Amino acid sequence: MCGLIGCTGVKCAAKILYGGLEDLEYRGYDSAGIAVLEKGKIVAAKRKGRVCALKTAAEELCGTSGIGHTRWATHGRPSDENAHPHTSGRFSVVHNGIIENYSKIKEELEGEGYEFSSQTDSEVVVHLLNKYYRGDLKETVLCAVERLKGAFALCILCEGYEGFVAVKYRNPIIVGYGSGGALYAASDMPALAGLSGSVAVLKDGQIAFASEGKISFCDFYGEPVCLTFSPVPAAARSTRLGGFPHYMIKEINEIPAAVKNTAHAFAEEKCFAALSRAAKKRGGFGEIFMCGCGTAYHSALAASYFAEAELGIPVRAETAGEFRYKKSAVGGGTLFVAVSQSGETADTVEAARAAKAAGAYVVALTNVPYSALTGIADTVVPVRAGTEICVAATKSYCGQIAALALLSATLKGGTAYSRTLADLKEIGAKCSAAISDCGVEDVARACASSSGVYFIGRGIDYPVALEGSLKLKEVSYVPGEGYPAGELKHGTIALIDGGTLAVAVITDRSLGEKTASAVEQIYSRGGRAAVVCAEGCAPSNLAERADFIIEVPACPAYLSPIVSVIPLQLIAYRTAVILGRDPDKPRNLAKSVTVE
Ligand code: AGP
Repeated sequence: MCGLIGCTGVKCAAKILYGGLEDLEYRGYDSAGIAVLEKGKIVAAKRKGRVCALKTAAEELCGTSGIGHTRWATHGRPSDENAHPHTSGRFSVVHNGIIENYSKIKEELEGEGYEFSSQTDSEVVVHLLNKYYRGDLKETVLCAVERLKGAFALCILCEGYEGFVAVKYRNPIIVGYGSGGALYAASDMPALAGLSGSVAVLKDGQIAFASEGKISFCDFYGEPVCLTFSPVPAAARSTRLGGFPHYMIKEINEIPAAVKNTAHAFAEEKCFAALSRAAKKRGGFGEIFMCGCGTAYHSALAASYFAEAELGIPVRAETAGEFRYKKSAVGGGTLFVAVSQSGETADTVEAARAAKAAGAYVVALTNVPYSALTGIADTVVPVRAGTEICVAATKSYCGQIAALALLSATLKGGTAYSRTLADLKEIGAKCSAAISDCGVEDVARACASSSGVYFIGRGIDYPVALEGSLKLKEVSYVPGEGYPAGELKHGTIALIDGGTLAVAVITDRSLGEKTASAVEQIYSRGGRAAVVCAEGCAPSNLAERADFIIEVPACPAYLSPIVSVIPLQLIAYRTAVILGRDPDKPRNLAKSVTVE
């Protein structure tokens, strides 16, 4: 949700900032803007739309310090005026997050004569800085942040201070040292990967002052704090397209590596020992709650099927946004697993916080080791999918299922862990086969011309159906729904007509006949059907009748969501391309939803 970047001590700040905004564009692409200090004065350029809309204006800016922003609109529609940076007096500010008490502050500031030029919540920050400035920058920043409620990562530029200030509260900010005295800040590691040798991740309530080759830190009370700098993680470095036309297809091709690296990391990070110790200390867990949003919720839901069967205790999956506002009965006997690619999703982070406060043992299962979620958790279970740039999650979903399978096996004990590791070793080749051989083009064409696509499945195929539907909707904008195959007849079947396509997922032979009945009901109403099945799992009558049939290699049932999701991801990708959509940056979306 919005990307921030700051730099100082560089030859041409605007050039660096523009490059950084391109790396951060996945966080929002409603508008982009840059402000630099030119001969001590703030000069800004901002444009509605993608970062590339800013290119020409950015090329005209010079100066060695500056800040930049790429926006996902929350308060105020996408427009030039609502684009950041916002400027007041000697200050310019970029913001990621939501200032919850902005209306009250705005009213007060307007009463004092401050004029607002945008509808954003963020603009209050820059006017507050202007209001409190008495010549001491640190005092000014402390006074301003004291007034703010909500979530905010900020980069601030101030005339008279050759550098920038970065502030962190509930939204991420990382600072780094570059070569030749250059200093940087950004919302995420990939934007710093090519610039900084060493980086430090700010914690909530910390402020960084970057100027003249040095970064110093204090907390919101002004007390100095020390941060540890370390090299940029290798995974953050490889974020270029490398010959692929889109990140989505590049990242689908990285699924085998995501699964393999996640399995390695589980062993490397000694998750087995940490989880076994925690279970022993609490006399075993009586129940497991798994929470996430969107795709992460779907991987949690898939895992709830195999974990409950394996462990014989209740395992529930719930969307984090629902969990956090519910009077839930989690407690000391609960293992709470927060699943999140980014580790920054506000609902998931807050759900984990609530579970922890209720006494649950909290596991963060995330692709981003330095995220907010890892700061809350008792244990981190790493997903090593590598940086995921496409807004639609693909390889991270498969990495999450692998990590969840290892977590479940660890709690089971005995030979389950080594069996899961061995099964995961075989999965890479099956994924590669599914990626290269499954032939989705005809189904994608059918999706592109359908009025609606219904994804159905039973058992562990149901969460996969949900994921297939989400993927298609978000990247191609073709309406659709994911449904348990048995539920279709209880209402939704009223929507089926000649323009409808159903995609049935079948990886469990024993449930094949049941799902086939649902497909028959669709045929009877004039709809068409595609069947995505594991080798040999589709009943022969269905295989003969289906308009399209896509087979993927068979694998152990609990790992089937890793393989069966691949054709669905490819169908969504190809449908988007056929319809001329940008699969990497779907409309209205952003990769990490760091606001409620
Ligand atoms: C998936 O394709 C999405 N764009 C979205 O549903 C995403 O999975 C969700 O916002 C959760 O993000 P997280 O995994 O970073 O927490």
